[in-house]
Amino acid sequence: VSAFTDALAGAIPTDTLEAPNAAKWKPLRGLLAEALSIDIEATNAVYVSEFGMIEQRLGQAGPSSADRLFVMILGPGTGLDQAIKRVRDRDASEGRSRVVVFVGREGASWTVLAVMGDTTDPVVGRFADEYPGARVEVGPPKAAPVATAKSIGPVAPPPTVPLILDDRVRRMAVVSIATSTAVVFIGPPGSGKTRLVEEMAQTAISGGTAFGLSVPPVDVLLATPDESWTSRELVGGDVLDDEHRLRFRPGLVLDSVERGAWTLLDEMNRADMDKIFGPLMSWLSGSVVRVGRAGTESHAAEVYLGWNAGAESKATGTERLAADSVGTDPILYLAGKDWRLLGTYNAVDAQRVFRFGQALGRRFARVPVPAMTPADFDDLLTPFDDEVRKAVSGLYAAQYELPETRLGPAAFLRTAEYVAAASTTGAGAAGSNEALGALLAEGYVTAIGPWLSALEDAELARLADRTSQWLGTEWPWIREMLDAVG
Ligand SMILES: Nc1ncnc2c1ncn2[C@@H]1O[C@H](COP(=O)(O)OP(=O)(O)OP(=O)(O)O)[C@@H](O)[C@H]1O
Ligand SMILES: [Mg+2]
Repeated sequence: VSAFTDALAGAIPTDTLEAPNAAKWKPLRGLLAEALSIDIEATNAVYVSEFGMIEQRLGQAGPSSADRLFVMILGPGTGLDQAIKRVRDRDASEGRSRVVVFVGREGASWTVLAVMGDTTDPVVGRFADEYPGARVEVGPPKAAPVATAKSIGPVAPPPTVPLILDDRVRRMAVVSIATSTAVVFIGPPGSGKTRLVEEMAQTAISGGTAFGLSVPPVDVLLATPDESWTSRELVGGDVLDDEHRLRFRPGLVLDSVERGAWTLLDEMNRADMDKIFGPLMSWLSGSVVRVGRAGTESHAAEVYLGWNAGAESKATGTERLAADSVGTDPILYLAGKDWRLLGTYNAVDAQRVFRFGQALGRRFARVPVPAMTPADFDDLLTPFDDEVRKAVSGLYAAQYELPETRLGPAAFLRTAEYVAAASTTGAGAAGSNEALGALLAEGYVTAIGPWLSALEDAELARLADRTSQWLGTEWPWIREMLDAVG
């Protein structure tokens, strides 16, 4: 018996199992969150005293985006096979992909009877290791389509405010893309990461010599991963096709490679990258990896992701993925030397969401995109009235001074637009200093309220203190508003 299995058995609230109070699950959820490095909010546990209760308990389990790990404790009247079938069917119909752990009595103590989920998921692996007697069940095939990606396309976007960037940041961007397969742009919220990476993508598609590529991408496919993503979305995985056959469906990276496009993952901090990248870790280091099997037969063609010796990307055998017979020859996706994976990563929010593990991080060239200086921001505000410009510029500079709450200009631009619009729509005019302060506070709250409400009390207090010249008398009101958005 390991420390983990021991602790798990001990964390099940045996004497209050039937009690309606969900707080009884806190110790168990806390233990699992800690041991498996997942967010406690992404765990859930229920007790099913008898089989007839199972649907009701499944219904109580919260939204699909919130559960990564679901623990079902089975009472004496609930058979394991039936429970697995019910949960799998229900998860399939709701498009959930989570790890489900079935716990039951074995003699006097609790043990894991089965674990269901994506068998390449490390959480499934951990349970399988800790409980060699447990059954490992494949989770429901995901019927939902793989991630929808937006095409950056060969057409230049309409011109907006030019991106003001330090020359050295721009140089790091260009040289990193020229020399590294994977490049991530890291910086605080609203610092221009998405704008910069889209601009780089555009430059690459247009085929100039900027990156020294011999085969420019035909397109760049952009997607924003979220917490529901697994390696299915990024790499590929089994789905039920129209004819209800279980088939391998390529994910975003494979799709890009086949099309001769690059992949762009915006806001990588929103998903659990270490989990999603799975097989891509060793691929990014130059290896060929097996990513799936085209059909369910044991000899069905295997699908590999590797590297092409030349500059261009290519795929072979992919037409068989949808054919009646998938054959046995391997299906290959080979990225060329000029293929790129680009990403953006929000360094501040990251402390509150998922982290980018060291092992994965090392596979990327990391380009810092800091918030622009207060002087540059002031220039950006030239189109605004003097008093609006002075106030928003002052607020930006004050917040800039606090590195832990430093933000890029995006939210402050929106604040300036709010104040300006309030004046022109007649909703309020910034006639007096007091009126200006009120509009500034409203613009600020509507631009970054949820972000502010996630700050620790001490951080918020320092920010209020630092910005008092601009928002001084408004802070009590701002705090009141934060209760509503938090
Ligand atoms: N350096 C900059 N120069 C000019 N405008 C900027 C700059 N940085 C941000 N902006 C303004 O902020 C807007 C948002 O920027 P963008 O979406 O690229 O930021 P981001 O870093 O990707 O933010 P997030 O972390 O929230 O995704 C831009 O469209 C632009 O108007
Ligand atoms: Mg962005």
